[in-house]
Amino acid sequence: MRIVCLISGEGTNLQALIDWQTKGLLGDATIVGVISNVASAYGLKRAERASIPTSVLPHREYSHRLLFDQALRSLINGYDPDLVVLAGFMRILTAEFVTHYRHRLINIHPSLLPKYKGLYTHRRALEAGDTVAGATVHWVTEALDAGDIIQQIEVPIVANDSEESLKTRVVELEHTLYPSVIRDLSLGVISC
Ligand code: GRF
Repeated sequence: MRIVCLISGEGTNLQALIDWQTKGLLGDATIVGVISNVASAYGLKRAERASIPTSVLPHREYSHRLLFDQALRSLINGYDPDLVVLAGFMRILTAEFVTHYRHRLINIHPSLLPKYKGLYTHRRALEAGDTVAGATVHWVTEALDAGDIIQQIEVPIVANDSEESLKTRVVELEHTLYPSVIRDLSLGVISC
């Protein structure tokens, strides 16, 4: 299973995937390319260190979201992927793009969806007085963070948790959740 990862920043989830791949734990999945819309994204360095081909497609150079997504599509398709993995890719994708990759496009979101779609998920969970937070891997559809859920992990919220401390604990578990889901998809243990 050829996978292309889309990132915008730090790329710690990408690093987890690279680490699992290096250890031979990613099933039949191979990361064949990493694409960022931000040239300075640290995740690009992580990919380069692992000798994974990278591309940068700055969204600012496109006057319209549709044009950016079309260019992104050709770039992705150049890698001939079976699965496109959003790993901290901070762009909303057009319906046309999402439809093209139906059942081949997944995302990881730092909340127990359907709770807290969008941004500031940890802050919102704390403000609501929740006792449990978590992360979700889901298929990407036209509606933001609303595609079918593939798998979730729960993280207890503890006394004195701050947005930062909660985020740190959630992202740590994301680093196991995402690679294990991708391994299972590649082995057919999970299907759509
Ligand atoms: C993670 O919290 C993930 O859930 C969200 O974006 C963040 C990406 O972090 N979609 P990183 O770039 O993988 O470190």
